[in-house]
Amino acid sequence: MAFSSFLTSAVNAGLRRVRRLALALGLGVALAAPSAAPTAASAALPQAIPQAIPRAAGPLSAPAAAAAASVASRMAPRVLACTTCHGKEGRSTPEGYFPRLAGKPAGYLANQLLNFRDGRRSYPQMGYLLEHLSDDYLREMAAHFAALDLPYAPPPAAQAPATVLERGRQLVQHGDAARQIPACVQCHGPSLTGVNPAIPGLLGLPRDYLNSQLGAWTTGQRRAQAPDCMAAIARQLAPEDVSAVSAWLAAQPVPGGGKPLAQAVGPMPVRCGGVDSLPVVGAAAPVR
Ligand code: HEC
Ligand code: HEC
Repeated sequence: MAFSSFLTSAVNAGLRRVRRLALALGLGVALAAPSAAPTAASAALPQAIPQAIPRAAGPLSAPAAAAAASVASRMAPRVLACTTCHGKEGRSTPEGYFPRLAGKPAGYLANQLLNFRDGRRSYPQMGYLLEHLSDDYLREMAAHFAALDLPYAPPPAAQAPATVLERGRQLVQHGDAARQIPACVQCHGPSLTGVNPAIPGLLGLPRDYLNSQLGAWTTGQRRAQAPDCMAAIARQLAPEDVSAVSAWLAAQPVPGGGKPLAQAVGPMPVRCGGVDSLPVVGAAAPVR
């Protein structure tokens, strides 16, 4: 089918670039074996990375600023291989297939890297880069991409008739109570830019990517930590619902720089694994 052959050739092109880069920079070592015996490449990437990327809370002291600059320079070579597919600085584009990473909630990105490494999601060409990386190393890469504040491109023109787009909008904003489909905005935020620490936004993503993720949840090829609320929701959607939702979402501009909300506006309708700090309807308040 046309889409899968497009994907295969895009992926092969991406892989060739990754291999060239890895060879050129000795990144095979840096990415795949952070705890291996020191070599020229791994010695250049010290193991003891400060816990978090510093936040922009007031001016930094001189030592703190120097530490921040040194974290940034250590992260650049680590994530270079990622940007061959995910775009310069992890920005991707709303066309094509590769999802954007820049500015997404850190906990969401970390959960996904764990999902790929541990087999709940599968994309072999990327998974092999993560195979031997520790939880901490994955969290540091997630924090790096989450901290990037870069503008979004305008959305591509809508690729569906108005009636289909309207059905998509209706489902996203109001769900369909009769068919037990919750409104997507209840968890993904009223402006669909996600909620920290672990709910992703749904805007600025390619339509093919959205279709594929919702499809993968229904077939069990994509899984999240239990309870996997998205698997249950995706299974309530008919194939026409999925294409309507994806077409509408992919055609929306991204408001407010796409920044995730600091906290949920209301409780989530059901519990989701990996998102323990957010309130759920009818449940005791989460421990903070
Ligand atoms: C060969 C291309 C390729 C490379 C290299 C690559 N990725 Fe990916 N990445 C993908 C594709 C394709 C997906 C979506 C896979 C799917 O269908 O689920 C993805 C998904 C992701 C996701 C989930 C995004 C989301 O919104 O759920 C994260 C996080 C991610 N990649 C991080 C990385 C990091 C970090 C690196 C570098 C260590 C990397 N990727 C290298 C192609 C790549
Ligand atoms: C009960 C809360 C909840 C509701 C309601 C909900 N989602 Fe989600 N959604 C999540 C969580 C949590 C994740 C992250 C799952 C993970 O860690 O993989 C997610 C992830 C996603 C992703 C993956 C994004 C990416 O970058 O790969 C898509 C697509 C998605 N949801 C679409 C929808 C749509 C469409 C609806 C409405 C029909 C919806 N969601 C309703 C909680 C929810």
